[in-house]
Amino acid sequence: MDVTRRLVMKGAAAAAASFASHPARAALPTEAGAEARSVQEIARDESYWRPIAAQYEVTPDIVNFENGYWGLMAKPVLEAFVRNTDRINRNNSWYARRDYHAELEPVHARLAAFLGAGRDEILFTRNATESLQTLIEGYNRLKPGDAVMYCDLDYDSIQAAMASKAEREGAGIVRIDIPEPVTHDQLIETYREALASHPDVRLLLLTHISHRTGLMIPVREIVAMAREYGVDCIVDAAHSWGQIDFNIDDLGADFIGFNLHKWIGAPIGAGLIYIRRDRLADISPDISERPDGVGRIQHRIHTGTTNFATFLTLADALDFHERVGPQRKAARLVYLRDLWAEEMRNDTRIEILTPPDPRLHAAITSFRFRNRISVEDNQAIVKALADTYGIFTVHRGGVARGACVRVTPALYNTPDQCLRLVQALRSLLAEG
Ligand SMILES: Cc1ncc(COP(=O)(O)O)c(C=O)c1O
Repeated sequence: MDVTRRLVMKGAAAAAASFASHPARAALPTEAGAEARSVQEIARDESYWRPIAAQYEVTPDIVNFENGYWGLMAKPVLEAFVRNTDRINRNNSWYARRDYHAELEPVHARLAAFLGAGRDEILFTRNATESLQTLIEGYNRLKPGDAVMYCDLDYDSIQAAMASKAEREGAGIVRIDIPEPVTHDQLIETYREALASHPDVRLLLLTHISHRTGLMIPVREIVAMAREYGVDCIVDAAHSWGQIDFNIDDLGADFIGFNLHKWIGAPIGAGLIYIRRDRLADISPDISERPDGVGRIQHRIHTGTTNFATFLTLADALDFHERVGPQRKAARLVYLRDLWAEEMRNDTRIEILTPPDPRLHAAITSFRFRNRISVEDNQAIVKALADTYGIFTVHRGGVARGACVRVTPALYNTPDQCLRLVQALRSLLAEG
């Protein structure tokens, strides 16, 4: 057996041992009992979720409905991260130079299998920004006179990357606004009309779940349609994988940027890039790679030294995520979202910015008090929610129809907290 293979097996054995002794195993409900019921039924069962919520150590100072920035690590993941940090610090380069890559390889393989991607099609990055910048910067098929397209709901720095790319290549910029409210078919039609009326567009940015409103767009349909127009899509999945359950085929895209520290629950500083195998040549190698080594996805990002412990802890984050169950988790998050968003939807004084259509939202949903569309208006609502009602949210600007307040539940939030939010919103609305 060669040395690499031996090291890979050693890494796999270590990962298996860590899973077997996982403190979360005993504490979480058994899948056996869960499988017999629908995920929607389980989503409403507090006795199922209480032990899971207890796996998160959360400050009692505030009800945190701002879980979109990043996701808390569950206790077993945090403990593994601390152990891994200690191990790395103790063993230093003695470990990092000899064993790290072999230990990480099974995690890489597991993530690829989980996503339905080839091992040669994904690579670890530090965050979604790094993944998306690499894709946008490296995309080598734009010519002078072409154009790029993005929309008001896309992430600011990724919009900026698209604009900078266009300027460097002598290409134009088309920015569209997503209608509000919007239906599934209107979304597809919006992109169809935009592509049809801008035949110079060659590259389109699509954000799977918007960090501004929570709108989830039908990526697969739009990617397929864009292809008919000869347009490539870069998909920003920073907020989607883990918030909902899907694989690469469900998106049908060639270029995707993910992070793992929002909804997969990994330590901060973990992301993924996906490049479909037969499109690798369309993303140029990183500036730090010389032409003799450009044939692999590893040549697309050259990060330098990263946090070894963060990546080693991915195995534990995946263990926890799988044990909760990606579909059960998604259904629970939607249940918590519905408790406040659908409860408030019929109140004419408030706009709920994601439609009730389950194809168009997951956990994140923003609201706007009617006619209060400035950033300052929405900052004031966030402040009142925090100061008077002890509920933390965040304002979001940049939406064509006006700023809003984003509410992002996590697995540790409770139905009572959602009702507390409803009461707080009603009180604020009554104040006028
Ligand atoms: C839609 C979207 N894209 C990209 C990013 C950047 O993600 P990261 O901070 O992991 O780089 C975020 C972060 O909030 C986001 O919401």
